[in-house]
Amino acid sequence: MSEVQHGLEGVIAFETEIAEPDKEGGALRYRGVDIDDLVGRVPFERVWGLLVDGRFDPGLPPDEPFRVPMRTGDVRVDVQSGLAMLAPTWGLQPLLDVSAEEARDQLARVTATALSFVAQSARGIELPMVPEKRVDEANGIVDRFMTRWRGDPDPQHVAAVDAYFSSAAEHGMNASTFTGRVVASTGADAAASMSAAVGAMSGPLHGGAPSRVLAMIEEIERIGDATAYVKGVLDRGERLMGFGHRVYRAEDPRARTLRRVARELGAPRYEVAEAFEKAALAELAARRPDRVLATNVEFWAAIILDFAEIPASMFTSMFTCARTAGWSAHILEQKKTGRLVRPSAKYSGPGPREAAAVDGWN
Ligand code: ACO
Repeated sequence: MSEVQHGLEGVIAFETEIAEPDKEGGALRYRGVDIDDLVGRVPFERVWGLLVDGRFDPGLPPDEPFRVPMRTGDVRVDVQSGLAMLAPTWGLQPLLDVSAEEARDQLARVTATALSFVAQSARGIELPMVPEKRVDEANGIVDRFMTRWRGDPDPQHVAAVDAYFSSAAEHGMNASTFTGRVVASTGADAAASMSAAVGAMSGPLHGGAPSRVLAMIEEIERIGDATAYVKGVLDRGERLMGFGHRVYRAEDPRARTLRRVARELGAPRYEVAEAFEKAALAELAARRPDRVLATNVEFWAAIILDFAEIPASMFTSMFTCARTAGWSAHILEQKKTGRLVRPSAKYSGPGPREAAAVDGWN
């Protein structure tokens, strides 16, 4: 194959039993199970178990009392650097040198610690740490996460975050998952592989920005007319945030599932969001009959996270927590292949030449 596939689009580099979105049908299944059967119905740690182990038990262990090593003011950076320090701190061996069972247990431990780091970092240094005894009273990993962050979280907020984590836990060969697999393929340790994946979340093209959806919702609340607002945006040639998708040619299945969760939880912005969605879909269909422009995950994720009182500055870190599940599954799957990822590039630089021919030689 000598054709360059820019951005690896369409290249199938891995075989996976974990998940790959059904782009035409608008479905997402974790090891064959539709996400709608899982999100808001099966706790996140058991979804982690399904993705990593292929069964619901035993899932994730509770996180250990371990302080986040760095406080940079950016939660995602604190988590990436904290994870990178786990190998020397815990004496983790390279994935190459451990059994699949050991690798799986290390990934579980790293995942639980990543959530703990996010929670501690989100709480900030102004507030005292939540006592470990209080955290131990929490019911499940997401309740622990929210308790570490807030001390006494509203159970409805815990349920919202749990549903969001499961909805965003895995999405096939996306940039951060690919990154994690590449690093794992070198035989690196579990924490280094996860830390690298976290780094890929820092880019706005992957990390997501549901906050732009909320800005539009706030504007609709202010003017009180979703259709007029939608027409105004489109007349100005601007895009409606939370609609359209690069790969799905049908409704994003995560949007569908999170809409259901938002309704079940009674999210206060459910009605305005629904009015916005209805007006947007009608207007987009009328103006762009040639395109399928449906609701994407960011739209309803914004409503769910807003309901749980998650500040917009935390959205990327919440996405990071969720995706630790998919990363763990893929890192383990990659370790089992034992194969180094090493693609090729088509060279298009200068032909053979003397060093003296290069600018700056003298
Ligand atoms: N609002 C209005 N028009 C839109 C929208 C939108 N949200 N999305 C696409 N269009 C129009 C474009 O203007 C374009 O029109 P043109 O052909 O006249 O130029 C046409 O539909 C196709 O647009 P593309 O950019 O080719 O669509 P693509 O599928 O490549 O882009 C994208 C997908 C970037 C997500 C786009 O739909 C968009 O900008 N949406 C709004 C931002 C958003 O919601 N981002 C979150 C995506 S979900 C995620 O990343 C996990």
